[in-house]
Amino acid sequence: MKVLVCGGAGYIGSHTCVALLQHGHEVVIFDSLVNSSPFAVENINILGKSSARFVLGDVRDRDALEAVLAEGFDAVIHFAGLKVACESLEKPLVYFDNNIVGTLTLLQAMQATGVRNLVFSSSASVYGQPDRVPISENAPLRVINPYGRSKLVMEQLIGEFCLADPRFSAILLRYFNPAGAHPSGQLGEDPSGSPSNLVPYVAQVAAGLHAHLSIFGNDYPTHDGTGVRDYIHVMDLADAHMKALDRLDGGGCIVMNLGAGRGYSVLDVVAAFERVCGRPVPYVFEDRRPGDVAEVWADPSLAERTLGWRARYGLRRMCEDAWRWQIKHPHGFRREEARRLSLRRLSAP
Ligand code: NAD
Ligand code: WQD
Repeated sequence: MKVLVCGGAGYIGSHTCVALLQHGHEVVIFDSLVNSSPFAVENINILGKSSARFVLGDVRDRDALEAVLAEGFDAVIHFAGLKVACESLEKPLVYFDNNIVGTLTLLQAMQATGVRNLVFSSSASVYGQPDRVPISENAPLRVINPYGRSKLVMEQLIGEFCLADPRFSAILLRYFNPAGAHPSGQLGEDPSGSPSNLVPYVAQVAAGLHAHLSIFGNDYPTHDGTGVRDYIHVMDLADAHMKALDRLDGGGCIVMNLGAGRGYSVLDVVAAFERVCGRPVPYVFEDRRPGDVAEVWADPSLAERTLGWRARYGLRRMCEDAWRWQIKHPHGFRREEARRLSLRRLSAP
């Protein structure tokens, strides 16, 4: 297949691009690099042992998208978006513009160029505060922040478009808590500034970049009082995207959860990480983080039935791979890139 990967230089996109290249697909990455680095693209090509073409562009730029899509593609995978839930509370319009306008523009460009297959990155954030766990796809959708709202609106836009054009086929994947990294240690989550997600933060504490982890709440009704989540290895997510591409056929829109189907608490994650890195991860308990919920984990049985997919890697493997990435790239790609640029400037005549 020839696949356009919007947001392919980012965390989940880069791992998926490697899998696509390794399976012999032709890949074009379309990314604004607003939250990623060209180093990721270099490593995608090294690990994929083939070359993905890179196009610098914003999905809100319809002309740029149409110019690429007009070459002819079998499918688009759409990862491009802003993803920090707490940031979206401060900047809702930035999130609506980037995510919703970006997705609308992509649909328009796909329609104009006759590209009719789409895999879309959605999120468990569409469920907000669940009534019960595990969460199945027909659970109530009660978003609790603008980021979640943007995901829900994008799902609805795609769903309505599929209804209007029965030749258009879409699979909407609701990821739970992605974690881990490529086993080579050459790709991983590369947040700008301090990570807001648990696993990369724990990795930075273990590496000595922060004095301690703040655990947000130890009075939840969970087995040890800390929040419980469904962590899913990024390599498993990459595999699910490959399977979703194979399943896209002849119209319709399917929504499915991608999670491991079991929950771990914050203290479980800390203990697993300590075992893997052989160092203590100091932590202090703090107040609950506003907007957090006690327990979230997926019923992933629809993905198993529809795609033949299930999570293969557990928490230990996620911690091992996240730690390898942390050791090999202690400051992430973007800090390395900035350092290289400043060295080049200093050495310029
Ligand atoms: P990421 O930030 O690492 O990757 C997103 C990529 O999209 C980045 O390379 C960024 O530069 C690019 N991008 C953003 N806006 C763009 C725009 N307007 N035009 C072109 N490129 C743009 O994030 P990720 O963790 O890889 O997430 C990928 C997708 O999965 C996102 O849509 C996110 O909302 C969704 N998701 C992520 C998580 C998670 O916790 N990581 C969970 C559920 C869903
Ligand atoms: C996990 C647990 C925290 C950091 C977010 C988004 C969601 C999705 C995945 C995109 C919680 C606790 C965390 C820390 C802590 N992203 N924690 N100290 O909040 O489940 O989900 O990422 O779609 O939309 O909301 O993930 O990794 O931030 O938190 O105690 O420094 O770790 O309270 O219980 P979350 P997370």
